[in-house]
Amino acid sequence: MNKNRRSIFGWGAAALGGALFASGIAHSVLAQTSKASTADGVAAFETIRVVLQHPRCQNCHPPGDAPLQFDEGRPHGQNVKRGSDGQGAVGLRCGTCHFTKNPPASYGAHVPPGAPNWHLPPPKTKMVFIHLSSGELCRAIKNQQANGGKDLPALLEHVSSDKLVLWGWDPGVGRKPVSVSHDEFVSKFKTWIDAGAPCPK
Ligand code: HEC
Ligand code: HEC
Repeated sequence: MNKNRRSIFGWGAAALGGALFASGIAHSVLAQTSKASTADGVAAFETIRVVLQHPRCQNCHPPGDAPLQFDEGRPHGQNVKRGSDGQGAVGLRCGTCHFTKNPPASYGAHVPPGAPNWHLPPPKTKMVFIHLSSGELCRAIKNQQANGGKDLPALLEHVSSDKLVLWGWDPGVGRKPVSVSHDEFVSKFKTWIDAGAPCPK
């Protein structure tokens, strides 16, 4: 944890932070130099939760063995499964139907949406977002054993620019985009990290 807390200060306050760590008063000073309070961080996480548990995101972050579809999260049609690597079962791989970008709008609704490397997390690390409380979700996304080894800066990078994440704001004809803007999501994610990534209970 300390490593994460230090690395998020790496940008502006690296030199100062290093000196203060050396003098052994790092913890209290970190709390003071932090731009956001724990309460700010917990409040920011609530917006993050709304995004992670939006259908466009959680349909790919289910606990079961199939992706979900539509706002009500029905199991994916055609008996599509996660498969041993998240790319779909042998013979029914995600890339058979999902390409690297959405089909042209003129194709209308109910066509397979697309983004590069369209797939689910692998079965060993399912990265479940559905049906978790805020606290559980917060601890889950921070758990490096379960999130693909991402520390806080890597998580921020992922939510800022990963193509599967960005697809949530451009999901193709007939699907509602994520209800919070991407800018606001990223800004709340930064606030949460600046506050030390605190989790609600
Ligand atoms: C097409 C499926 C798909 C969609 C849609 C999708 N994800 Fe993911 N997500 C993945 C996969 C697969 C991974 C695992 C990392 C990888 O392989 O890129 C992942 C990993 C993540 C992670 C890091 C792992 C963790 O547990 O912290 C976050 C955060 C995340 N996604 C957020 C989102 C958000 C936010 C949205 C919606 C805006 C979204 N995802 C939509 C497939 C998807
Ligand atoms: C046989 C073709 C086919 C395969 C294989 C396939 N899909 Fe789909 N998928 C579709 C179609 C068609 C839609 C659009 C359905 C609609 O809008 O009526 C879709 C929609 C989706 C959606 C959008 C859900 C939403 O409403 O937010 C997700 C997520 C998804 N697929 C994930 C996957 C993943 C992950 C795989 C591989 C494990 C996969 N699909 C394999 C055909 C396929």
